[in-house]
This record gives sequence, structure tokens and C-alpha cells, in this order.
Amino acid sequence: MSTHTNDIFNREFSRQYDAYSHKLAEITDNLHLLISLLLNTLPSQARVLCVGVGTGSEILRLAQQHPQWHFDGVDPSPDMLAVCHEKLADAGIAARCTLHEGYLRDLPVRGDYDAVLCLLVTHFIQHPQRDGIYTQMARQLKNDGRMITAEIAGDMQSPAFDEQLEMWKTMHEVASQAPRDKAEIKAQLSQRLLLLPPEQTENLIATAGFTLPQRFFQSLLIHGWTARKAP
Ligand SMILES: C[S@@+](CC[C@H](N)C(=O)[O-])C[C@H]1O[C@@H](n2cnc3c(N)ncnc32)[C@H](O)[C@@H]1O
Repeated sequence: MSTHTNDIFNREFSRQYDAYSHKLAEITDNLHLLISLLLNTLPSQARVLCVGVGTGSEILRLAQQHPQWHFDGVDPSPDMLAVCHEKLADAGIAARCTLHEGYLRDLPVRGDYDAVLCLLVTHFIQHPQRDGIYTQMARQLKNDGRMITAEIAGDMQSPAFDEQLEMWKTMHEVASQAPRDKAEIKAQLSQRLLLLPPEQTENLIATAGFTLPQRFFQSLLIHGWTARKAP
């Protein structure tokens, strides 16, 4: 199983990603609002690591609210990072952001981040233990540092999943303004992603060096958790 997902996050996808996300802004704005509330108690000169930073939406939002925070972003897709870099430069915040092309496991372990964010990334790691990414996040945090993760989650074997999939299909139809086929969406979810039941992700987080994760967000299949690095 591979963690290499650059075939999805290519140049064409990267240039369209923000426009498509914007159509679902009511969902992602709520996620980002709750994240900024969770991070509100961080020090004024906090260091934040964004794993799978993509086009940098999470950095842009937090950097505007916290003018002295420093951000590191890591992502294996050079095309997503190119868009991110342009946006950070346009917003005048590039000087306090460092982007790294690659995987989290390739970064030196600092152990001094105040927070680690990993938004809409882990479902792309087609490995039942997510290839150790939660342990890698815990290692980068200072003691008691905050981890926030959001992923597409669900139990595809459960009878309830069909109804969840129907709503997921409707969401994509509204965003793309075009009819979508439920079976095709299900096939794409199975081929490109690995959805785990939410309880399985909670267990992975809890056994990776974190306190018990709190689920602070759910919108359709998108689930968000926060936990602190355990002492
Ligand atoms: C859907 S985008 C999310 C981007 C951003 N976090 C957001 O919320 O808008 C997923 C990103 O995860 C990156 N990615 C995929 N697999 C990854 C991995 N194993 N480790 C880190 N990032 C990964 C992709 O290159 C892509 O930029």
C-alpha cells in the first residue's frame, strides 16, 4: 500500500481545488471557525504544523487572526504547494510560513509545535493504521500540544452507509451543479480513499500518544477530532 497520492493532486486538480471547495464553504467555514476557537488559547508566538497543507486554506485563515504565529506546511504534492505558495505570497504572510515538499515522516522531529493540524488528508492514506501518521504528529508536538484532524469517515459495510452516501452524492451534485451517480461515487471512495469507521480513527488517535480524542465536528461524512499530546 502506498502513501503516494500525487497522481490525484496533480496540476489540473490543484488549480481547481479552491474553486470546488468554495462551493462547499458553508461546511468548511464551520470547520475552520471551530478550529480557530480550539486554538484560541495558543501563545501569541505559536508554531503550527499543517500536515497535507494543500493550497493552504488553514494557514491563510489562522495567519490573518494571529499575526505572530509561524506555520510549517508539509505536503507531497508540488502542484498543491505551488498554489499554496502563491496564496501565501499574495496575502503577505509567506515570510512566516515554511513549506516542505514530502511526507510528515521525512521532517526532522522538532517536538516543539504548539499545534498540529491535518485536515482532509488521512482518508487518502490507504493503510488501516494510516501508516503511523498520528504517532508522527504526536512526536512533533510539545507536551500537551493540540492535534486537530478532520477526515472523511464512515463504515461502508454498515446498512446506514447507503443513506449517508445518498446525502454525500447530493452534496456533490449541489457543488458541481450536475447529476452524480451513487455507485460511481461509492466506487471512487473505495478506490481512491480508505474510509474507516469513526470509532476506529478515535482508537488510532488514542493509541498514538494522545489523550482521548474529542469529536468536535461532523458534517455528513467529514468528521473532526481534537486531542492533546499525552504526558
Ligand atoms: C483534500 S487536500 C486538503 C488540503 C488542505 N488541508 C485543506 O483542508 O484544504 C489533501 C492534501 O493532502 C495531501 N496528502 C495526500 N497524502 C498525504 C500524506 N500521506 N501525507 C501528507 N499529505 C498528504 C495531498 O497532496 C493534498 O494536498
